[in-house]
Amino acid sequence: MIKTNRRDFLKLGGLVGLGLLTACGPSPSTVVEEKASEVHKSKNGLLELKLVAALTNINLNGKQAKLFSYNGSLPGPRLEVQAGDTIKINFTNKLQQPTNLHFHGLHVSPSGNSDNVFLEVKPNESFDYEIKIPKNHPSGTFWYHPHYHGKVAEQLFKGLSGLIIVRGALDKIPEIAAASEHFVVLKDIELDASGNVPRSSMMELVRGREGRLLTVNGQINPKLSVVKNGLARLRFLNASSSRIYNLSIENHPMHLIATDGGAVANSQEIQNLILAPGERAEVLIKADKTSAEYKIISSSYDRFNGMAGGMMGSMMGANISSQNSTTTLARLVYEGSSQKLSIPNKISDFKLLEQKPVNTRYFNLYHRGVMGRGPRFFIDILDSSGKKIGGGLFDHKKVNVQAKLGDVEDWVISNSGSMDHPFHIHVNSFQVIDSSGKPEPAWRDIVLVKPGQSKRIRMKFEDFTGKAVYHCHILDHEDLGMMGVIEFA
Ligand code: CU
Ligand code: CU
Ligand code: CU
Repeated sequence: MIKTNRRDFLKLGGLVGLGLLTACGPSPSTVVEEKASEVHKSKNGLLELKLVAALTNINLNGKQAKLFSYNGSLPGPRLEVQAGDTIKINFTNKLQQPTNLHFHGLHVSPSGNSDNVFLEVKPNESFDYEIKIPKNHPSGTFWYHPHYHGKVAEQLFKGLSGLIIVRGALDKIPEIAAASEHFVVLKDIELDASGNVPRSSMMELVRGREGRLLTVNGQINPKLSVVKNGLARLRFLNASSSRIYNLSIENHPMHLIATDGGAVANSQEIQNLILAPGERAEVLIKADKTSAEYKIISSSYDRFNGMAGGMMGSMMGANISSQNSTTTLARLVYEGSSQKLSIPNKISDFKLLEQKPVNTRYFNLYHRGVMGRGPRFFIDILDSSGKKIGGGLFDHKKVNVQAKLGDVEDWVISNSGSMDHPFHIHVNSFQVIDSSGKPEPAWRDIVLVKPGQSKRIRMKFEDFTGKAVYHCHILDHEDLGMMGVIEFA
């Protein structure tokens, strides 16, 4: 904040009149040039950096794009820390709209100047974030992005996101340590002829906006190298606002080693991987085929319950084709050769939550038109008989769920709507319980709930008091009301 006395103010006013200075709010010409993605690693328990969000000229394989970036790069700087470290971010908002930061998936305080999504950083203002990562925090792939309600989808879609890597036990498994490590940030972009992100129609917002350019680490079809006979470790993040990816690799099965919240118990061979917005997954790939290039593919995925080709589809126009086509996202390229590495079986001492849930809560997700406001998205809270007892549209002044620190709870999330909703909760990760009542040995913070489905999740509220949120990670849905407030006490 610049403090001025009246005399100075008049002087500044004169300059404004001459067009030399703009008081209050960013000048419309605040556009920065693209820079290479930075990597910031903690030293002696501290990672300190300046982060600036600004409109940026980005080169997308020869196409000029005007996007939002952190520190001029797409994706933003990668932050690498260890359990027990503190992250201090001096954050400046050079956008012409309010924003803030969320530290997705980290088990950290949701209050004060930590992972507090109720904060507002106005245009041209700065704010000092301080994130203390607990000593027992799992290693894994996490990320940061804006969480200013009403602007989240737009700000992510235009490019704001970055990885947070917590190093630890997972990185020390010999085969994983020897693998070639690749961060794979998946992000779709839509551009008009002049390189701007076009405004979305209400129908696009209802569906969740998607773009036809599929980028990996801000590039189109980049090369990821692997040594023949060696392993590649791909650390996927879906940083798209709405797109769900159906991932596979030509001629190569994947071996899942980590989900949102870190390592699984044992590696698991999979042929394809469904990744909803906000989700992370780490896979190992064995380079035991003929030295060549292999496509990393995104296949079609229907998140509209078979309705995409119908009325919803035709009203969407051009963008619908993107959901139904197969696209090469990147290439896995063999280079050189090494001694044979095998896929490790045991990945971690994973522990299921042993404590019995003290409570089961029921939630239902759907959307409908609201008189005078247009389409809105809801999370109703139900009793066990299905009667509505709370929830509804997001209201930051309300607390929808009061949770007790130390409790384990089951939440049953149902979807009575007509499209997929990936349900996400802050602060504490959960285990997904299958239909036979068995918990999956994996930590997640996003569970995909398809129309007509119910998913049961189990979580323990640990360490941190304060208010946080749960919401759909199709970010247009969140902006249109599909979010609730939980208070840990
Ligand atoms: Cu998120
Ligand atoms: Cu949704
Ligand atoms: Cu969130």
